[in-house]
Amino acid sequence: MRRSDERGPRAYLGAVLAAGALLASAAAAADGPVLYKPCVACHGPHGEGVPATGAPNISGGEAWYLERQLKQFAAGLRGGQPGDTYGATMKAGSAALVSDKDRSIVVAYVASLPRVRAAMGTAVTGNGRNYFNAICSACHGSNGLGNEALGAPHLAGLPAAYLARQLAAFKSGQRGAQSGDKLGAQMRAISTMLPDARTEQDVVAYAASLKP
Ligand code: HEC
Ligand code: HEC
Repeated sequence: MRRSDERGPRAYLGAVLAAGALLASAAAAADGPVLYKPCVACHGPHGEGVPATGAPNISGGEAWYLERQLKQFAAGLRGGQPGDTYGATMKAGSAALVSDKDRSIVVAYVASLPRVRAAMGTAVTGNGRNYFNAICSACHGSNGLGNEALGAPHLAGLPAAYLARQLAAFKSGQRGAQSGDKLGAQMRAISTMLPDARTEQDVVAYAASLKP
């Protein structure tokens, strides 16, 4: 008897809450493309990246990583350092996202788009593969697909030019040197481990060549 009593108001409340959640997620699904509109000019209509703007492919990216980056840009932990032209462009380009809610809605949309590979440029070398496997794979995986537990995103299929710029940004401290950026600091510590510019170029070309 008690059971059927509970069906009444509780079940009703449950149904109302469920409908509310459904409406909220439907609203988020509708808002995603709207919030993504200002991004199209630089990242492309499908998040595939636009080489001429320096904006990488972000479609199908890890939601936890994309969201962290959007917060980093908003807080100036990324894109706020002198000389970081591309980062500053992105910081300005995402200024229309005014709340964490906006950021999580646009991220859910971007993450839901199919992941694509950037156009490949540089040739792949055994040197690049060896160094990648010796150093980078520990966090980014030998397939370059990333590791959420370590906070390391996928590198596979990103533009080599973008990867090279990020490696240089970590090295110079444009990225990862600000207090409060713990994961950036970890990557920054690694960024000086490659012996020379040639090897850096080989390693990013190898990472870019992996299947995203
Ligand atoms: C004016 C051009 C421009 C606009 C508009 C823009 N971006 Fe970017 N975005 C960039 C550039 C350039 C970079 C690379 C920055 C760098 O090299 O450090 C970038 C990087 C990013 C990254 C980091 C990717 C990574 O792998 O770490 C994310 C996430 C991102 N953009 C999302 C967005 C979203 C979402 C929007 C729209 C709300 C947006 N961007 C609007 C130019 C833009
Ligand atoms: C100790 C773990 C660790 C190792 C080893 C490591 N990384 Fe990272 N890497 C990270 C983390 C964590 C991030 C994310 C930082 C952030 O959130 O800003 C990252 C981010 C990056 C990014 C930025 C990706 C993007 O989309 O903007 C690049 C490029 C990168 N790593 C390249 C490398 C290369 C090349 C190596 C090998 C030489 C390497 N990493 C080794 C932890 C690591």
